[in-house]
Amino acid sequence: MGKTGFSLILALGLVTFSTSSERKCILSGDWQNDLGSNMTISAVNEVGQFSGLYLTAVSAAGKPIRVSPMNGAQHVDNLEQPTFGFTVKWSFSDSTTVFVGQCFVDDHGEETLQTMWLLREKAKSAENNWNATLVGTDVFTRLKGQNVGESMRSDL
Ligand code: BTN
Repeated sequence: MGKTGFSLILALGLVTFSTSSERKCILSGDWQNDLGSNMTISAVNEVGQFSGLYLTAVSAAGKPIRVSPMNGAQHVDNLEQPTFGFTVKWSFSDSTTVFVGQCFVDDHGEETLQTMWLLREKAKSAENNWNATLVGTDVFTRLKGQNVGESMRSDL
């Protein structure tokens, strides 16, 4: 193989490698959504499980908002734009929210978590079950250079 052919293969290899490594997404870190809610996710383990803290900016509960624990899992078999899910058990209300979503990484390496959620409020009885679940979407972006996790842990 000539020098040019070898250089071409090397260049192609480098482009492929950089594209796939840029798209990887590990959920650990600090995130903020379109409502201004913050969450911090601790290390993701080898099977994709994680825990974290969530500070919502809004609430339907009419009570003082407090930092709440969350637990979830992401796919780690293929880290390119993985899907995930997590649950927030609200510390200040009887409600629970489940989020499902996918991490997308754009050409500049910017990550967004596109999520959909179900917020389950506590119904007084089965007759009131019909309107006890709210649904919505949230988009999270990664917070850089601000230690949100630290301040959330101190608010626990
Ligand atoms: C409650 O009101 O009982 C608990 C707080 C619920 C906050 C919801 S969960 C979905 C949406 N996304 C947020 O960041 N906050 C709201």
